[in-house]
Amino acid sequence: METRLLPTDPAEMLREGAREAVRLLEQGEVVALPTETVYGLAGDVQAPDAIAKIFEAKERPSFDPLIVHLPRRDLLPEVAVVEDTLDAALRPLMETFWPGPLTFILPKQPDLSDAVTAGLPTVAVRMSAHPVFKRVIHDFGRPLAAPSANRFGRISPTSASAVQEELDGRIPLILDGGACASGLESTIIRIEPTERKPIAHILRQGPITAEMLKKHVKIAKPKPSPSTTVTVEAPGQTESHYAPNTPLRLLERPEDFHPDPGKRYALLSFRGLEKDGYMELTTFEDVAVLSPGSGKVPEAAVRLFFLMRQLDRLGVDEIIAEPVPEHGIGAAIMDRLRRAAAARG
Ligand code: TXA
Ligand code: MG
Repeated sequence: METRLLPTDPAEMLREGAREAVRLLEQGEVVALPTETVYGLAGDVQAPDAIAKIFEAKERPSFDPLIVHLPRRDLLPEVAVVEDTLDAALRPLMETFWPGPLTFILPKQPDLSDAVTAGLPTVAVRMSAHPVFKRVIHDFGRPLAAPSANRFGRISPTSASAVQEELDGRIPLILDGGACASGLESTIIRIEPTERKPIAHILRQGPITAEMLKKHVKIAKPKPSPSTTVTVEAPGQTESHYAPNTPLRLLERPEDFHPDPGKRYALLSFRGLEKDGYMELTTFEDVAVLSPGSGKVPEAAVRLFFLMRQLDRLGVDEIIAEPVPEHGIGAAIMDRLRRAAAARG
Protein backbone atom coordinates (compact mmCIF):
# COMPACT_ATOMS: atom_id res chain seq x y z
CA MET A 1 0.00 0.00 0.00
CA GLU A 2 1.20 3.50 -0.81
CA THR A 3 1.21 5.83 2.21
CA ARG A 4 0.32 9.37 1.22
CA LEU A 5 1.57 12.34 3.21
CA LEU A 6 -0.59 15.48 2.99
CA PRO A 7 0.26 18.94 4.34
CA THR A 8 -2.21 20.85 6.54
CA ASP A 9 -0.88 24.34 6.08
CA PRO A 10 -2.16 26.76 4.77
CA ALA A 11 -5.89 26.56 5.53
CA GLU A 12 -6.99 25.23 2.12
CA MET A 13 -4.52 22.38 2.52
CA LEU A 14 -6.04 21.54 5.90
CA ARG A 15 -9.49 21.56 4.32
CA GLU A 16 -8.39 19.14 1.59
CA GLY A 17 -6.40 16.91 3.94
CA ALA A 18 -9.24 16.71 6.45
CA ARG A 19 -11.72 15.86 3.69
CA GLU A 20 -9.51 13.00 2.53
CA ALA A 21 -8.97 11.75 6.09
CA VAL A 22 -12.72 11.76 6.80
CA ARG A 23 -13.43 9.96 3.50
CA LEU A 24 -11.00 7.19 4.47
CA LEU A 25 -12.30 6.96 8.05
CA GLU A 26 -15.84 6.59 6.73
CA GLN A 27 -14.66 3.64 4.62
CA GLY A 28 -13.29 1.89 7.71
CA GLU A 29 -9.68 2.89 6.92
CA VAL A 30 -7.08 4.17 9.37
CA VAL A 31 -5.21 7.49 9.14
CA ALA A 32 -2.32 8.99 11.11
CA LEU A 33 -3.09 12.40 12.60
CA PRO A 34 -1.11 14.85 14.72
CA THR A 35 -2.20 15.55 18.30
CA GLU A 36 -0.57 17.93 20.78
CA THR A 37 1.17 14.96 22.46
CA VAL A 38 2.29 12.52 19.75
CA TYR A 39 0.85 11.40 16.39
CA GLY A 40 -2.07 9.00 16.66
CA LEU A 41 -3.32 6.25 14.34
CA ALA A 42 -7.06 6.90 14.12
CA GLY A 43 -9.96 4.62 13.21
CA ASP A 44 -13.74 4.61 13.73
CA VAL A 45 -14.52 2.96 17.12
CA GLN A 46 -17.71 1.56 15.59
CA ALA A 47 -15.96 -0.12 12.62
CA PRO A 48 -14.53 -3.52 13.55
CA ASP A 49 -12.37 -3.48 10.39
CA ALA A 50 -10.79 -0.17 11.35
CA ILE A 51 -10.01 -1.40 14.86
CA ALA A 52 -8.46 -4.58 13.44
CA LYS A 53 -6.35 -2.47 11.04
CA ILE A 54 -5.01 -0.37 13.92
CA PHE A 55 -3.82 -3.48 15.77
CA GLU A 56 -2.38 -4.92 12.58
CA ALA A 57 -0.48 -1.82 11.43
CA LYS A 58 0.99 -1.32 14.90
CA GLU A 59 1.63 -5.07 15.44
CA ARG A 60 -0.03 -4.37 18.75
CA PRO A 61 -1.04 -7.37 20.86
CA SER A 62 -4.82 -7.64 21.25
CA PHE A 63 -4.59 -7.43 25.06
CA ASP A 64 -3.44 -3.81 24.87
CA PRO A 65 -6.47 -1.45 24.77
CA LEU A 66 -6.77 1.71 22.66
CA ILE A 67 -7.44 5.31 23.69
CA VAL A 68 -10.76 6.71 22.44
CA HIS A 69 -10.92 10.38 21.33
CA LEU A 70 -14.11 12.40 21.44
CA PRO A 71 -15.13 15.19 19.05
CA ARG A 72 -17.27 16.80 21.80
CA ARG A 73 -17.65 16.31 25.51
CA ASP A 74 -21.38 15.60 25.23
CA LEU A 75 -20.57 12.41 23.29
CA LEU A 76 -18.92 10.88 26.38
CA PRO A 77 -22.03 8.70 27.10
CA GLU A 78 -21.48 6.93 23.75
CA VAL A 79 -18.33 5.30 25.10
CA ALA A 80 -18.47 5.52 28.91
CA VAL A 81 -21.02 5.17 31.69
CA VAL A 82 -20.46 7.94 34.20
CA GLU A 83 -22.72 7.92 37.24
CA ASP A 84 -23.40 11.09 39.21
CA THR A 85 -20.69 10.99 41.87
CA LEU A 86 -18.02 10.22 39.28
CA ASP A 87 -19.46 12.89 37.00
CA ALA A 88 -19.19 15.49 39.76
CA ALA A 89 -15.56 14.51 40.37
CA LEU A 90 -14.69 14.59 36.66
CA ARG A 91 -16.42 17.80 35.72
CA PRO A 92 -13.88 20.34 37.05
CA LEU A 93 -11.00 18.33 35.57
CA MET A 94 -12.63 18.14 32.14
CA GLU A 95 -13.48 21.83 32.29
CA THR A 96 -9.89 22.70 33.12
CA PHE A 97 -7.90 20.26 31.02
CA TRP A 98 -10.10 19.31 28.05
CA PRO A 99 -9.40 19.55 25.23
CA GLY A 100 -5.83 18.70 26.18
CA PRO A 101 -3.30 15.99 27.07
CA LEU A 102 -5.30 14.26 29.83
CA THR A 103 -6.84 10.78 29.46
CA PHE A 104 -9.40 9.34 31.88
CA ILE A 105 -9.99 5.65 32.56
CA LEU A 106 -13.77 5.31 32.89
CA PRO A 107 -16.34 2.51 33.12
CA LYS A 108 -17.02 1.35 29.58
CA GLN A 109 -20.32 1.72 27.76
CA PRO A 110 -21.58 -1.86 27.15
CA ASP A 111 -22.07 -1.32 23.38
CA LEU A 112 -18.47 -0.22 22.85
CA SER A 113 -16.53 -3.02 21.18
CA ASP A 114 -14.39 -5.23 23.42
CA ALA A 115 -11.74 -5.11 20.71
CA VAL A 116 -11.19 -1.41 21.53
CA THR A 117 -10.87 -1.98 25.28
CA ALA A 118 -9.15 -5.40 25.05
CA GLY A 119 -12.01 -6.91 27.01
CA LEU A 120 -11.54 -4.60 30.01
CA PRO A 121 -14.59 -3.17 31.82
CA THR A 122 -13.05 0.30 31.39
CA VAL A 123 -12.20 2.63 28.51
CA ALA A 124 -9.50 5.30 28.13
CA VAL A 125 -10.99 8.60 26.87
CA ARG A 126 -9.43 11.86 25.81
CA MET A 127 -10.06 14.99 23.72
CA SER A 128 -7.25 16.46 21.67
CA ALA A 129 -6.65 20.20 21.36
CA HIS A 130 -4.62 19.92 18.14
CA PRO A 131 -6.23 21.97 15.34
CA VAL A 132 -5.73 19.22 12.73
CA PHE A 133 -7.03 16.43 14.95
CA LYS A 134 -9.93 18.61 16.08
CA ARG A 135 -10.86 19.45 12.51
CA VAL A 136 -10.87 15.82 11.35
CA ILE A 137 -12.77 14.42 14.34
CA HIS A 138 -15.25 17.30 14.23
CA ASP A 139 -15.99 16.67 10.55
CA PHE A 140 -16.16 12.91 11.15
CA GLY A 141 -18.53 13.59 14.03
CA ARG A 142 -18.04 10.40 16.07
CA PRO A 143 -15.46 8.97 18.51
CA LEU A 144 -12.15 7.76 17.06
CA ALA A 145 -9.83 5.18 18.56
CA ALA A 146 -6.29 6.57 18.28
CA PRO A 147 -3.27 5.00 19.91
CA SER A 148 0.19 6.39 19.20
CA ALA A 149 1.18 5.86 15.54
CA ASN A 150 4.20 3.62 16.16
CA ARG A 151 4.84 -0.09 15.96
CA PHE A 152 4.32 -1.80 19.31
CA GLY A 153 7.01 -1.18 21.90
CA ARG A 154 8.71 1.53 19.85
CA ILE A 155 9.15 5.24 20.40
CA SER A 156 6.01 7.32 19.84
CA PRO A 157 6.22 9.54 16.72
CA THR A 158 6.33 13.31 17.27
CA SER A 159 6.57 14.26 13.57
CA ALA A 160 5.05 13.08 10.30
CA SER A 161 8.42 11.70 9.18
CA ALA A 162 8.63 9.62 12.36
CA VAL A 163 5.20 8.16 11.50
CA GLN A 164 6.55 7.33 8.03
CA GLU A 165 9.52 5.60 9.61
CA GLU A 166 7.11 3.48 11.67
CA LEU A 167 4.16 2.78 9.39
CA ASP A 168 5.12 3.53 5.77
CA GLY A 169 3.36 1.09 3.43
CA ARG A 170 0.95 -0.03 6.15
CA ILE A 171 -1.54 2.84 6.21
CA PRO A 172 -3.07 4.96 3.41
CA LEU A 173 -2.62 8.49 4.82
CA ILE A 174 -0.63 10.68 7.19
CA LEU A 175 -1.67 14.30 7.76
CA ASP A 176 1.43 16.36 8.43
CA GLY A 177 0.84 18.80 11.28
CA GLY A 178 4.50 19.49 12.02
CA ALA A 179 6.15 18.71 15.35
CA CYS A 180 3.96 17.90 18.36
CA ALA A 181 3.82 20.68 20.94
CA SER A 182 4.27 18.65 24.11
CA GLY A 183 6.13 15.67 22.68
CA LEU A 184 5.13 13.10 25.33
CA GLU A 185 1.98 10.97 25.48
CA SER A 186 -1.01 12.21 27.50
CA THR A 187 -1.24 11.79 31.25
CA ILE A 188 -3.56 8.88 32.11
CA ILE A 189 -5.57 8.99 35.33
CA ARG A 190 -8.31 7.06 37.09
CA ILE A 191 -10.55 9.09 39.39
CA GLU A 192 -11.89 7.64 42.59
CA PRO A 193 -14.78 9.75 43.93
CA THR A 194 -14.81 10.14 47.73
CA GLU A 195 -16.95 12.16 50.13
CA ARG A 196 -14.27 14.84 50.19
CA LYS A 197 -11.72 15.61 47.48
CA PRO A 198 -11.67 12.95 44.71
CA ILE A 199 -8.52 10.83 44.48
CA ALA A 200 -6.54 10.65 41.22
CA HIS A 201 -4.48 7.57 40.45
CA ILE A 202 -1.85 8.50 37.87
CA LEU A 203 -1.36 5.50 35.57
CA ARG A 204 0.94 7.23 33.09
CA GLN A 205 2.81 10.45 33.77
CA GLY A 206 2.61 13.09 31.08
CA PRO A 207 2.13 16.77 30.23
CA ILE A 208 -0.59 17.29 32.86
CA THR A 209 1.50 16.93 35.99
CA ALA A 210 0.55 15.98 39.55
CA GLU A 211 1.17 19.62 40.51
CA MET A 212 -1.40 20.76 37.96
CA LEU A 213 -4.00 18.19 39.08
CA LYS A 214 -3.57 18.87 42.80
CA LYS A 215 -5.91 21.83 42.89
CA HIS A 216 -8.83 19.56 42.02
CA VAL A 217 -7.90 16.14 43.38
CA LYS A 218 -5.80 14.35 45.95
CA ILE A 219 -2.99 12.43 44.24
CA ALA A 220 -2.79 8.75 45.22
CA LYS A 221 0.62 7.41 46.18
CA PRO A 222 2.25 5.95 43.08
CA LYS A 223 2.20 2.19 42.74
CA PRO A 224 5.54 0.36 42.69
CA SER A 225 7.27 0.49 39.28
CA PRO A 226 5.93 -1.87 36.59
CA SER A 227 8.96 -4.13 36.89
CA THR A 228 7.84 -5.18 40.38
CA THR A 229 4.09 -5.19 39.76
CA VAL A 230 2.46 -8.38 38.61
CA THR A 231 -0.86 -7.02 37.42
CA VAL A 232 -0.67 -3.59 35.87
CA GLU A 233 -3.65 -1.33 35.76
CA ALA A 234 -2.69 0.08 32.37
CA PRO A 235 -1.81 -3.05 30.41
CA GLY A 236 0.39 -1.15 27.97
CA GLN A 237 2.45 0.23 30.78
CA THR A 238 4.98 -2.56 30.52
CA GLU A 239 8.52 -1.43 30.97
CA SER A 240 9.56 -2.37 27.45
CA HIS A 241 7.79 0.69 26.00
CA TYR A 242 9.48 3.72 24.44
CA ALA A 243 12.55 1.78 23.44
CA PRO A 244 15.05 2.64 20.71
CA ASN A 245 16.75 -0.37 19.07
CA THR A 246 20.09 0.75 20.51
CA PRO A 247 20.48 -0.12 24.21
CA LEU A 248 20.00 3.00 26.33
CA ARG A 249 21.52 3.52 29.77
CA LEU A 250 20.30 6.23 32.12
CA LEU A 251 23.09 7.41 34.42
CA GLU A 252 22.22 8.91 37.77
CA ARG A 253 25.74 10.38 38.17
CA PRO A 254 28.59 10.97 35.66
CA GLU A 255 31.02 8.93 37.76
CA ASP A 256 28.83 5.86 37.20
CA PHE A 257 30.03 5.65 33.59
CA HIS A 258 32.98 3.37 32.83
CA PRO A 259 33.28 3.33 29.04
CA ASP A 260 34.49 0.22 27.32
CA PRO A 261 37.33 1.34 24.97
CA GLY A 262 36.13 -0.97 22.21
CA LYS A 263 32.63 0.45 22.15
CA ARG A 264 30.96 3.40 20.46
CA TYR A 265 28.71 5.66 22.53
CA ALA A 266 26.30 8.53 21.96
CA LEU A 267 25.16 10.92 24.67
CA LEU A 268 21.66 12.24 25.26
CA SER A 269 22.51 15.34 27.28
CA PHE A 270 20.09 17.58 29.13
CA ARG A 271 21.67 20.98 28.55
CA GLY A 272 24.85 20.06 26.66
CA LEU A 273 27.08 21.69 29.26
CA GLU A 274 30.51 20.30 30.11
CA LYS A 275 30.13 21.43 33.69
CA ASP A 276 27.34 18.92 34.22
CA GLY A 277 30.14 16.35 34.10
CA TYR A 278 28.92 13.97 31.42
CA MET A 279 30.42 15.35 28.24
CA GLU A 280 34.07 15.06 29.19
CA LEU A 281 33.81 11.40 30.23
CA THR A 282 34.84 10.07 26.86
CA THR A 283 34.58 11.06 23.27
CA PHE A 284 30.99 10.38 22.45
CA GLU A 285 30.38 9.79 18.79
CA ASP A 286 27.53 12.25 18.96
CA VAL A 287 25.95 14.41 21.63
CA ALA A 288 22.26 15.27 21.31
CA VAL A 289 21.06 18.09 23.54
CA LEU A 290 17.53 17.93 24.95
CA SER A 291 17.24 21.53 26.06
CA PRO A 292 19.84 23.71 24.30
CA GLY A 293 17.71 26.86 24.25
CA SER A 294 15.82 27.33 27.49
CA GLY A 295 17.65 24.73 29.61
CA LYS A 296 14.20 23.83 30.92
CA VAL A 297 12.21 20.61 30.96
CA PRO A 298 9.32 21.47 28.56
CA GLU A 299 11.82 21.97 25.76
CA ALA A 300 13.42 18.63 26.64
CA ALA A 301 10.00 16.93 26.49
CA VAL A 302 9.33 18.25 22.99
CA ARG A 303 12.71 17.01 21.74
CA LEU A 304 13.05 13.71 23.64
CA PHE A 305 11.52 11.20 21.19
CA PHE A 306 12.87 13.04 18.15
CA LEU A 307 16.45 12.89 19.52
CA MET A 308 16.09 9.28 20.67
CA ARG A 309 15.21 8.37 17.08
CA GLN A 310 18.13 10.41 15.75
CA LEU A 311 20.67 8.74 18.06
CA ASP A 312 19.17 5.34 17.30
CA ARG A 313 20.08 5.77 13.62
CA LEU A 314 23.82 6.18 14.38
CA GLY A 315 24.30 2.50 15.03
CA VAL A 316 26.41 3.05 18.17
CA ASP A 317 26.70 0.31 20.80
CA GLU A 318 25.01 2.28 23.53
CA ILE A 319 23.14 5.54 24.14
CA ILE A 320 24.01 7.13 27.47
CA ALA A 321 21.30 9.42 28.88
CA GLU A 322 21.83 12.16 31.46
CA PRO A 323 19.05 12.52 34.03
CA VAL A 324 16.81 15.59 33.77
CA PRO A 325 15.39 17.54 36.73
CA GLU A 326 12.39 15.60 38.00
CA HIS A 327 9.94 18.47 38.36
CA GLY A 328 6.98 19.43 36.17
CA ILE A 329 7.07 17.41 32.94
CA GLY A 330 10.61 16.32 33.91
CA ALA A 331 8.97 13.51 35.92
CA ALA A 332 7.35 12.15 32.75
CA ILE A 333 10.64 12.46 30.83
CA MET A 334 12.46 10.44 33.51
CA ASP A 335 9.65 7.85 33.39
CA ARG A 336 10.18 7.41 29.62
CA LEU A 337 13.97 7.28 29.99
CA ARG A 338 13.70 4.65 32.75
CA ARG A 339 11.40 2.53 30.58
CA ALA A 340 13.72 2.87 27.59
CA ALA A 341 16.65 1.86 29.80
CA ALA A 342 14.75 -1.07 31.34
CA ALA A 343 13.86 -2.42 27.89
CA ARG A 344 17.25 -3.95 27.25
CA GLY A 345 19.14 -3.32 30.43
O1 TXA B 1 -1.19 11.15 24.02
C1 TXA B 1 -1.74 10.07 23.86
O2 TXA B 1 -2.39 9.53 24.75
C2 TXA B 1 -1.59 9.41 22.49
C3 TXA B 1 -2.36 10.24 21.48
C4 TXA B 1 -2.23 9.67 20.09
O3 TXA B 1 -3.70 10.29 21.87
N1 TXA B 1 -2.08 8.08 22.53
C5 TXA B 1 -1.44 7.08 23.17
O4 TXA B 1 -2.08 5.85 23.03
O5 TXA B 1 -0.41 7.21 23.79
P1 TXA B 1 -1.39 4.47 23.34
O6 TXA B 1 -2.37 3.47 22.89
O7 TXA B 1 -0.06 4.41 22.70
O8 TXA B 1 -1.28 4.43 24.86
C6 TXA B 1 -2.46 4.29 25.62
C7 TXA B 1 -2.17 3.62 26.89
C8 TXA B 1 -1.71 2.19 26.69
O9 TXA B 1 -0.62 1.99 27.55
C9 TXA B 1 -2.91 1.37 27.12
O10 TXA B 1 -2.53 0.15 27.69
C10 TXA B 1 -3.57 2.28 28.14
O11 TXA B 1 -3.40 3.55 27.62
N2 TXA B 1 -4.99 2.01 28.25
C11 TXA B 1 -5.92 2.06 27.28
N3 TXA B 1 -7.13 1.70 27.74
C12 TXA B 1 -6.96 1.42 29.04
C13 TXA B 1 -7.82 0.99 30.09
N4 TXA B 1 -9.12 0.77 29.88
N5 TXA B 1 -7.32 0.80 31.32
C14 TXA B 1 -6.02 1.03 31.55
N6 TXA B 1 -5.14 1.43 30.60
C15 TXA B 1 -5.60 1.62 29.36
MG1 MG C 1 1.82 4.00 22.51
